[in-house]
Amino acid sequence: MNAAERPTKPSAQPNALANHLAAAREEERERIARDLHDILGGHLVAIKIETALLAARLEAEPLRRRARAIQKLLDDALATVSRLTRELRPGILKDFGLGAAIECQAEDFAQRTGIACRIVCADHDIQLPQHAAVALFRIFQEALTNVCKHAQASQVAVRLTQEGDEVLLEVSDNGRGLTAADIDKPRAFGLRGMRERLDELGGRLELHPCHPSGTRLRVAIPLAAAEGSGAERCKGAQPQ
Ligand SMILES: Nc1ncnc2c1ncn2[C@@H]1O[C@H](COP(=O)(O)OP(=O)(O)OP(=O)(O)O)[C@@H](O)[C@H]1O
Ligand SMILES: [Mg+2]
Repeated sequence: MNAAERPTKPSAQPNALANHLAAAREEERERIARDLHDILGGHLVAIKIETALLAARLEAEPLRRRARAIQKLLDDALATVSRLTRELRPGILKDFGLGAAIECQAEDFAQRTGIACRIVCADHDIQLPQHAAVALFRIFQEALTNVCKHAQASQVAVRLTQEGDEVLLEVSDNGRGLTAADIDKPRAFGLRGMRERLDELGGRLELHPCHPSGTRLRVAIPLAAAEGSGAERCKGAQPQ
């Protein structure tokens, strides 16, 4: 097994401090998402309405063209606020479950990057404690960010399943692939952060080459280990 395929070692004890920090981070994200949505989003909508009123009074075509350009910029800014809010606070995760949240995130990613993102399987019956579902979702976000930043891929395939007593998430791209040196970069925190989250849950991360090119990131979380920490359940299609 080369370094790129090395699984992480699950830690024996759940780390209470790490769990606490992860929960605090999620709370902070929720607060930022609320401000983004309510304050920045609110201001942008108000500017959009004012701009529309102003534009209606313009007669000269060059000025009307300018106004249309401003309206287009405002629409783009509102779409960005909406996407950032969804990323920071995946409400869909709580309300509709991990499968729906992964699908929604993949659609956003494909639209934003132009990289085709295919969900080959998203099991909607997966039941994980809330903190484990959030951790898996954050890992998924970082995996997609890495594809966009590093892989030079044109396609991504995502698979989310429950197999036996494990939840499995696979993100495969058809990009340049990664090396053992990539994984051990001292100033890179994405893969390290994934491992830390998984250690807390007794899970593991594997990175495999894809044929003929690319990377398959494979994450496994044992349902039993995650249950052991006694957190609230995140169930598909159940109101919270
Ligand atoms: N899907 C991928 N395809 C090709 N290379 C990858 C892929 N994912 C990660 N890498 C390589 O692995 C390295 C480590 O990834 P990691 O997410 O830990 O750090 P980063 O993305 O460089 O920085 P950070 O996540 O801290 O902003 C990357 O710098 C990149 O070289
Ligand atoms: Mg990264």
